[in-house]
Amino acid sequence: MALLHVLEYPDSFLSRRIRPVTDITGELQKKIDDMAETMYQAPGVGLAASQVGLDQCVLVYDISPREDGRDLQVLINPRIVCQEGKVVSENEGCLSVPDYRSDVVRAAQIQVEGADRNGKPISIEANGFLAIVLQHEIDHLEGVLFIDRISSLKRSLYKKRIKKRLKQP
Ligand code: NI
Repeated sequence: MALLHVLEYPDSFLSRRIRPVTDITGELQKKIDDMAETMYQAPGVGLAASQVGLDQCVLVYDISPREDGRDLQVLINPRIVCQEGKVVSENEGCLSVPDYRSDVVRAAQIQVEGADRNGKPISIEANGFLAIVLQHEIDHLEGVLFIDRISSLKRSLYKKRIKKRLKQP
């Protein structure tokens, strides 16, 4: 297994809409294992293909408490088919948006359809933290970052900060 480089804003790959997986190859399985390892190392609770420069619609997540060991979940070609209610996701963050957190308004309940890493169809009904993680990661696959979902004032302040930092030697 290898650790993958996690792209950071403003890398343009992060705003791409990622292509659906049409064939679950051994190469993709290896990539999924690498994504999982990269997520655990970070550490993070989720990672989407676009964050590692992979143009295949897949995400990994694990929201189990650390002390319980690993419970890796893989979703291929996930999509939100139903959503209900609103909730404020407090202090949301992202490995691709370092050193920044913000509240984000998200759907309270969602239903997600997709496939597991073997291509078996799955349907997940989620609320609470799982619903937030899934929305965040599925957003990534559609080229959307959580900073695209905050107020334009907050977003422009963040962008200014990044520009300044990138100018520094
Ligand atoms: Ni993220």
